[in-house]
Order: sequence, then structure tokens, then C-alpha cells
Amino acid sequence: MTAERHILLIIGGGIAAYRSLELIRLLRRDGHVVHPVLTSGARQFITPLSAAALAGQKAFTDLFSLTDETEMGHIRLARQADLVIVAPATANLLARAANGLADDLATTILLVTAAPILFAPAMNPRMWEHPATRRNVAQLFADGAHFIGPAEGEVACGEQGEGRMSEPQAIAGRVRELLAPVDQPLAGRHVLITAGPTHEPIDPVRVLANRSSGRMGFALAEAARELGARVTLVAGPTCLPDVPGVHAMRVQTAQEMMHAVHEALPADMAILAAAVADWRVKNASATKLKKGGNGPPVLELAENPDILASIAALPEGRRPALVVGFAAETGDVLANARAKLKRKRADVIIANDVSPQTGILGGEETELHIITDSAEEHLPRQPKPRAARAVLQYLASLLVKPDSGSNG
Ligand code: C5P
Repeated sequence: MTAERHILLIIGGGIAAYRSLELIRLLRRDGHVVHPVLTSGARQFITPLSAAALAGQKAFTDLFSLTDETEMGHIRLARQADLVIVAPATANLLARAANGLADDLATTILLVTAAPILFAPAMNPRMWEHPATRRNVAQLFADGAHFIGPAEGEVACGEQGEGRMSEPQAIAGRVRELLAPVDQPLAGRHVLITAGPTHEPIDPVRVLANRSSGRMGFALAEAARELGARVTLVAGPTCLPDVPGVHAMRVQTAQEMMHAVHEALPADMAILAAAVADWRVKNASATKLKKGGNGPPVLELAENPDILASIAALPEGRRPALVVGFAAETGDVLANARAKLKRKRADVIIANDVSPQTGILGGEETELHIITDSAEEHLPRQPKPRAARAVLQYLASLLVKPDSGSNG
């Protein structure tokens, strides 16, 4: 048995291309087989010969692709690769990848591969900050790509800011994480997750809603599945697609969510990540409310059931071994979260600051605190899918040794 993995390293056209040669060396030192692919831009900075010599493998370029198709089967290689790295990922390459273009060998590989893709962006800081690049990065995140960097520092054009490609050592470290054999500590466990907002009808066309996107809950569902769990995801209205391999129950209101959650029990772990509306409209109208007449309607509100508290209060045997709540706060995050842990009788509260300036609510990234009776763990700001994996690893460890986290 060999641990060697095949990595396709797409080198984009930027001054950082020469640092990818060092990356080849580090990846080989970790025992990987590296297949370099140079875009036409990359060939302005380094030669296929230097990449091939360091990799000990042929370097692919568009120049060879017509003959290589039959001779080398690089498309087959793209399908069979364990990981694809794009370093440096230029603004242009990110834009083409985000839009699914396949106008050269590199972008064709990105469309064909089933392997995880890691982008290491490098560009002028203004290009990195440009809304078009932000959009492209957000799209690639949503498509499941991984990112490292760019780092802060001086870029080749002399400007200062975020735009420098991450150090080859850091990229190699991230590769180690991505290729680590996935341990499945939740195999045979049922994990129940709520996600998204709820919509509380005012009339047949209007609702009370909130800004939750459901991204965190969906990412948690995927992470739980990756750790081997059977997952039920009860989701309020979101535009996110079903997570493959996860049983989805789509609901609209808090009362429907409450019903679906209790129907999905028993579970070993319940993670209540939904932003459930605290109130519903008691006097919702069966017909569309009209303007005029007696002025604006007066909405009478009724309190919604607290799904988390209802699960935490279940008798032993019916109660999941680990009940996890979220605390989205706009101030005093830790103190409020600790109070919530007690009040709701949860085993774990995962707290984050959703003040508008953080961009967390509805955004791509999050920063979290995991709080139990006996411990507090800080997860720095990072993409939600990565944070979700870290959270699930932590929760899985509590389930394995329930004494360290459960008070239920
Ligand atoms: O809204 P609040 O800050 O109390 O929410 C904290 C936790 O309680 C979250 O995990 C949320 O999903 C859960 N919750 C719930 N049902 C509610 C309100 C909140 O499950 N009606």
C-alpha cells in the first residue's frame, strides 16, 4: 500500500508562478505525485521544462493537448486526480472557473474533475477587492471549492494589501488537511439538523421572515454526512439545493419545523441551527390584505414554540445525547451564549456575532465560539463549510465521550 496521491497542479499566469515550483517540491516531499499544467499565461513566467523537471512528470500545456488527448489521457488524469490545485489562481482564471468556461486545458480540467479543488489566489489587491472577483470567489465557494489566501503583504507591482499568494509551505499544509483520510466517528449515528429562516404568513402572499440563508445548517449537514452520520435536515425556506446523501424535510413555518423535528426523532445529536422566527402572526388573513379602508392592518403576534428547548426537555431515552443550539448575537456574545446554554438546557451553544458589519448573517464566512458547561473553543473567521467541519469534529468527540460535554 502506498499513500501517494495524484495532484494536478494548475499554474496560472502571474509572477507568483515561480513560487509554485517550490510548491511542487514540497508536495513531492510529502509523497505526492504532481502533474503540472501550465496555462498560456504561466508560460510567460516559467517554462514547462522547469515544472516537469521538478515534478518528475510531464508538464501539460495547451500546446500538447491535441496529441496528449490520446497519448497521455490528461482528461482521465483529471477525473482520477485526488486533488486539483490552482496556484497562482489569477483573477482571470477565477472568473473563467466561476463561469464554467472551458476554453483551455486548465479550465477544462476544472470542469471535468471530481476531485476537490484548492485555489491559491494571487493578484493585485485592487483586483482581489473588486466586486467582480468577490462574486466569482463566492460562486466558487458555493460550488464547493476550497481557498487558501491570498495573504497580506507587498505584491509584485509594489502595492501593499491582500493579494500575495500564500506561502508554498502553507499551501502544502492545507493539502495535507484536505487529503487526510476521513475518519468517520459518526458512522451509525443519526444527526438531526435545522437550518434556514422560517416564514410566518401574514396573508397568502406576505410573510414575516429574517435574513438567514441556511448556509451554515446545510454545511453542517454535509459535514455530518462526511463523518459517516445518517443526517436529517429540516430546512426552512432557502434557495439552497438538497445536500446529496442527506434526507431533507422542507418546511415554511416554525410550527411546521417543530412538527418535522419531532417526527424525525430519535436522533443521537440534534443541531438546531435554524433562525426560527420568535413570533408568528396570530391573526393571519386567509385572503390578501388590501390597502385603503381602515388604514394599515394591525398584526397581532403570538410566540412560536421553542424547538431547541422542547428537544432539550425530552425525557432520557427520547432526548438526543447531544443537543446543540446556536446563539446569533449582536453584542455580549459569550455572556448571552452562556446564559442560553443554561436557560435552554442545551449541551452545547455555538455562538456568533451577527452584527451587520460582520457580514456573517447570510454571508459566506463565520467566526464561532463553541461553549459547553466545561469548555469554550474559539474558531477563527473562515468559510462556513470549513467551520462546519471543525464544529462537527468537535461535536463528534463529545458524543464519543459524552461526559465531557453533556449535561443532559
Ligand atoms: O432565538 P434564540 O437566540 O433563542 O435561538 C437560540 C437557539 O434556539 C438556536 O439554536 C435556534 O435554532 C433555537 N430556536 C429554536 N426555536 C425557536 C427559537 C430558537 O429551536 N423558536
